[in-house]
Amino acid sequence: MYELVRGPLVWIAFIGFFGGMAYRFIAMALLARKDRVVYPTFDAKYGLRSLLHWVIPFAGVNMRMRPFYTLLSYTFHICVLVTPLFLMGHAVLWQESWGVRWWSLPQNVANVMTLVVIFACLFFMVRRLVRPEVRNVSFASDYLLALLVMAPFATGFVAHHQWLPYRPMLIVHIASGALWLLLIPWTRLIHMAWFVFTRSYMGSEFGAVRHSRDW
Ligand code: HEM
Ligand code: HEM
Repeated sequence: MYELVRGPLVWIAFIGFFGGMAYRFIAMALLARKDRVVYPTFDAKYGLRSLLHWVIPFAGVNMRMRPFYTLLSYTFHICVLVTPLFLMGHAVLWQESWGVRWWSLPQNVANVMTLVVIFACLFFMVRRLVRPEVRNVSFASDYLLALLVMAPFATGFVAHHQWLPYRPMLIVHIASGALWLLLIPWTRLIHMAWFVFTRSYMGSEFGAVRHSRDW
């Protein structure tokens, strides 16, 4: 079972992730070409100005109004992207499989970053339950998505600390990691790819057409 999960499943996950992302990019580019407003509205100056305001913490009014959420959201995103790429346990696998030597995080730093992701996902779920303005626009899929994001972090953490039998836990971990990668292109998690385009489009429309700010 372990060999099956560690071999073919990991291949399926990576091919599915990159293939799915490529498909979504091409489909979106073709769709945008059909629209008469999207491409002509893009404006490098206003697009970049908006991106800059949305990438820098606290540069926007909305972010300053919710300082704790902003801080948590930025920390969460750094941890969610950096931890899996620079984890010692993963670096060993890259080296075993491809001979690639990879820089890796000290184990206690990785543990803390993992806990940050788990805490942030729990926070996102609780926030959706208790804040009426967010609850009104929340669906069951939002909670499932937070659980999906959390799953490889929780299972990787438990496997590493060997709180449950190691091998079975690692199998569950790799399966959840594969699901994570496979579902990104087909769920709202694709915002990681759309962010640059949606933000620069909004910036362009607000700046060049409406002559106002969007942050
Ligand atoms: C799909 C292929 C994957 C494989 C083969 C894999 C394999 C492993 C292995 C061998 C460990 C080490 C356990 C130990 O230290 O004994 C581990 C830990 C971990 N993995 Fe993965 N993993 C995969 C995907 C992912 C993904 C997609 C994520 C997150 C997005 C992830 C997050 C983690 C975390 C957070 C830990 C441990 C955290 C800690 O040490 O505190 N893994 N993984
Ligand atoms: C460079 C990549 C990414 C960018 C620029 C980005 C950007 C954003 C933004 C702007 C938000 C909204 C935050 C707010 O309302 O203030 C958000 C929320 C979120 N993102 Fe990302 N993101 C990225 C990657 C990811 C990845 C890789 C994941 C996990 C797979 C992820 C999971 C989430 C989650 C769980 C939320 C919060 C959802 C909720 O409120 O329930 N993001 N992201």
